[in-house]
Amino acid sequence: MNHLINYIVKNPSIHAKWLNTLSYLENAGARKISACEHKTEVDLIQLKHAAEEHRHAFYLKKQILKISENSCPNYESNYLLAPYSTQQYLNRLDIETCRY
Ligand SMILES: [Fe+2]
Repeated sequence: MNHLINYIVKNPSIHAKWLNTLSYLENAGARKISACEHKTEVDLIQLKHAAEEHRHAFYLKKQILKISENSCPNYESNYLLAPYSTQQYLNRLDIETCRY
């Protein structure tokens, strides 16, 4: 794992995409939490959880600016690592969880 992370961090383009991929996943999680909310019965814990996931997405996105101001402006596939797997990950996790 150390070797992989060192490889990622040494390459600015890959490093930015890695942070963007993590940010994408945090944002996708936040959106899933919000999508599951009841129309009126939303408690403080649900709001806090969604807000925290959005904050994580924001924080990771902000870290990209320290590498390069012009890389990864959005979550389009060419700005993610393993875009297909990344975009399917949370849905696959939901399916596996339901099966379990
Ligand atoms: Fe998170």
